[in-house]
Amino acid sequence: MPRTLFVTTALPYANGPFHIGHIMEYIQADVWVRFQRMQGCKVHFMGADDAHGAPIMLRAETHGVTPEELVRKVGESHQRDYQRFLLSFDNWYTTHSEENRELSHSIYGRLKDAGLIYAKSIEQFFDPVKSMFLPDRYIKGECPKCGAKDQYGDACEVCGSTYAATELKNPYSVLTGAKPELRTSEHLFFRLSDPKVVKFLRRWTTQTPLQPEVKNKIAEWLGGSGDAKLADWDISRDAPYFGFEIPDAPGKYFYVWLDAPIGYLASLKNYFDTGKAQTNGETRSFEEFIAPSSEVEQYHFIGKDIIYHHTLFWPAMLEFAQRKLPTNVYVHGFITVSGEKMSKSRGTGISPQRYLEVGMNPEWLRYYIAAKLNDKVEDIDFNPDDFVARVNSDLIGKYVNIASRAAGFLEKHFDGKLCETTLGSTYQGRSSIGEYRHIPIEDAIRYGESIRLFYDRRQFGMALRLIMELADKINAFWDNAKPWELSKRFDSPINPTDNQWLHQVASTTIEWFRLTTLFLKPVLPDVAQKVEKFLRLDHALAWVDVSHHLPAGHKIDSYVHLLSRIDPKQIDALFEAPTTIASPSPPPLARRERGDSSGFAGASDREEKESGAGAPQLPLTPSPSPASRRGGKESGASAPQISIDDFSKVDLRIARIVNAEHVDGADKLLKLTLDIGDGRTRTVFAGIKSAYRPEELIGRLTPMVANLTPRKMKFGLSEGMVLAASGDGPGIFLLAPDSGAQPGMRVK
Ligand code: 2FM
Ligand code: ZN
Repeated sequence: MPRTLFVTTALPYANGPFHIGHIMEYIQADVWVRFQRMQGCKVHFMGADDAHGAPIMLRAETHGVTPEELVRKVGESHQRDYQRFLLSFDNWYTTHSEENRELSHSIYGRLKDAGLIYAKSIEQFFDPVKSMFLPDRYIKGECPKCGAKDQYGDACEVCGSTYAATELKNPYSVLTGAKPELRTSEHLFFRLSDPKVVKFLRRWTTQTPLQPEVKNKIAEWLGGSGDAKLADWDISRDAPYFGFEIPDAPGKYFYVWLDAPIGYLASLKNYFDTGKAQTNGETRSFEEFIAPSSEVEQYHFIGKDIIYHHTLFWPAMLEFAQRKLPTNVYVHGFITVSGEKMSKSRGTGISPQRYLEVGMNPEWLRYYIAAKLNDKVEDIDFNPDDFVARVNSDLIGKYVNIASRAAGFLEKHFDGKLCETTLGSTYQGRSSIGEYRHIPIEDAIRYGESIRLFYDRRQFGMALRLIMELADKINAFWDNAKPWELSKRFDSPINPTDNQWLHQVASTTIEWFRLTTLFLKPVLPDVAQKVEKFLRLDHALAWVDVSHHLPAGHKIDSYVHLLSRIDPKQIDALFEAPTTIASPSPPPLARRERGDSSGFAGASDREEKESGAGAPQLPLTPSPSPASRRGGKESGASAPQISIDDFSKVDLRIARIVNAEHVDGADKLLKLTLDIGDGRTRTVFAGIKSAYRPEELIGRLTPMVANLTPRKMKFGLSEGMVLAASGDGPGIFLLAPDSGAQPGMRVK
């Protein structure tokens, strides 16, 4: 009986496009899923948008749309982007759905019946202007420990201490600036501290083969065998809130984290109800599939900041609602870029949308990320130079080249037909060039088995290292055999067996290439598909094909282009200011950027938040042009209304351009040195090279944004931006003040 797997990735908030952290997680899960499918497992891979919560409600309001509309638009962008990265979700849904409402009601009802829900009044900050209770992240004030100003309501970014929002000194609402009032409200709690819940969690977390780092963290939370330190979990929020109203508590809504993981089941239910599960070969009903007794294995891929939610809240909810429990929760670390933590406010990171827009191949990123991943809860780093080197040397230099070389000789001399290959023996060949041993078949089996185990254990870096070791061997075999020498004298061979030997070398190399492709297929699905076609295979490569081989006389097609090298210029484009002005595009939303960068966030009830400040990057127009999504040319587009207070946050100053120069290796940028009369100069990289020669800019005055968070770019730190106009036609026009303006004057 093939195993059946139900696999999920964490559901992204529907408040902005994917960032690189999402893509990393999806690549990890997708490689594993594709590998399991190749092994013959039945896999049902579910995704969905996490649609609820105050931040989404507030963001929709800012954009003048309903939360439903916002969620729908963002959902469209997510679905488009996951397909572009070749992620093989079998269904993508939303937590704002009837399926999820029903399932959430049912699970909540069961928890209530089990005596695990109770009501308690709590005091919370209330914004009297906005008439709403404020999540911690919407309150700022002075840190109660160190006095630092403008700290969030849950933790101080200066001294690192954590506290309750009510402890802040001089608190104010981030939404309106108003002084929040303490008000009382009745909330519903899930009794996580109940001895039967604690007992269950101790058992489940011990018996489940969680990663050791995860177990350690849980042990800290659950404490020893004595009293657990678990706090009960506040699962309700007051109106206004975007979510599901609680059936027996009008005006109260389920906290987003209550219905988010239930969204995994809702996506699955929708997949069954729409007939997709059946098309994918599933004969059971949804209820049978997900029954506690079913042998379906359930895996959740998540980041290290939401371990608490997935190893304590979620299994407890499922257990006491008498539902099926997860088989395992696979936790990964974060992704840094050139060693820096992604941060929306600092503007670092890589935008997946930008990656595709500049024409970079998704399989490069899949390969690079997979090569960095293991089964540990470790952060991985995207290093641009390493990325180019790895992809170009491994995928092009070692892998793709094998095929182009061998296929050429087969086509030229043998009508594209393979001879009996000797992959299966320790055959020795002889030609006028010398005597060679083939790589023995035992290697294929041995490599195949190790690679299989590494994939299965999510040690993708190890799997890929072995595959490249094998590719090195094949290349060495080829180089030693010197088939090009034999090909040159094909019509008048020195040794009568030379041509046979050439046929052997080319056929064997193609056979090894087929195997290498099979091994790489979970990571490079598109390339593998092209290879299946080019080798004229009669079925898609599966793991059992490790021990098969192509028969003598099998004809292959001419070599087709499989993959290009990365042009380092594309990396420049990826990191360059993406628009015609020096404005950093709104960088990707940092995923759950929540204090504890060592990971393992342990807060039991962290509010979902908008990360950082800055203009949201939203796909709110039907199909935004790439330029408008990058915040560039937007002819006729209208931005949402802002208040004068919003505008006055921008510190616009007149600057003198004291120097302007070209930037080595940058196509679009000029490096400007700007003086706003405050005794120091600022460097700004501006995308105006196509319109201005540096020497004509020196000495000019132009307005600049002086309080923009510095952005680290490939070429250095950009400390602001200058303003320029551009439209659909060509041309970029730097703004200039009227005569008389002086450096440092405020523009308002
Ligand atoms: O942290 C987050 O991005 C959440 N939206 C993850 C939810 S995972 C699941 F529980 F839905
Ligand atoms: Zn502090």
